[in-house]
Amino acid sequence: MTYFKFASKLKRVQRKLFGGRRGHHVILSGEIERMLRLEIINPVIVETGCIRSLTEGTESTLTIASMVKDKGTFYTFELEPRHIAICKELCAGYNQYINYIEGDSVSNLHSMVNDQTISTIDFAFLDSVNDGNHIWKEFETIEHLFPKGSTLVVDDVLWAKKGEIIRPYLEQSGDWSTKIYNVESGIMVAKRL
Ligand SMILES: C[S@@+](CC[C@H](N)C(=O)[O-])C[C@H]1O[C@@H](n2cnc3c(N)ncnc32)[C@H](O)[C@@H]1O
Repeated sequence: MTYFKFASKLKRVQRKLFGGRRGHHVILSGEIERMLRLEIINPVIVETGCIRSLTEGTESTLTIASMVKDKGTFYTFELEPRHIAICKELCAGYNQYINYIEGDSVSNLHSMVNDQTISTIDFAFLDSVNDGNHIWKEFETIEHLFPKGSTLVVDDVLWAKKGEIIRPYLEQSGDWSTKIYNVESGIMVAKRL
């Protein structure tokens, strides 16, 4: 077991025993709050990778759905039906605000962008598989849909593999401003310029 896996397992056990929320819950909810303050009409929010366990501590899907409610359209893309079932359990009372898209995020994003079900994205949280190439493909599929002032949050960009390709791209791009928070394995917030 790598140090990263050991440390995150230990933190999960601690959360199970003592409760508490992960640092990036605060960042995610703060960014959602900022997006809502812009008062965009029907903002579109995309998440890749929904809540997969009762002790994850981020509860990203629940955080987003409970804050956005019917003030926007929220899609979460998830490969595993069993994770969707867990997520639905955790999001009880808010599932009417969540569009669960089951299957591979890249191919589903492709189809929904191609058929224009999704034609703009005001907020995205990329947190699916720990594979830099996959996260990059998700982003590549949707980059052109972010209007000025929109927000992209990418989890695990420092110590895990998710940020391998997307992080240097965004940091060097003139179209985005970026900030990385050194909480857990790093979370990046990027704003479309
Ligand atoms: C780190 S977890 C997401 C955690 C969640 N965002 C939270 O904060 O609680 C990653 C999720 O991505 C899902 N996933 C893995 N590969 C995927 C793929 N190709 N397409 C969509 N989801 C995928 C996993 O099944 C898992 O549920």
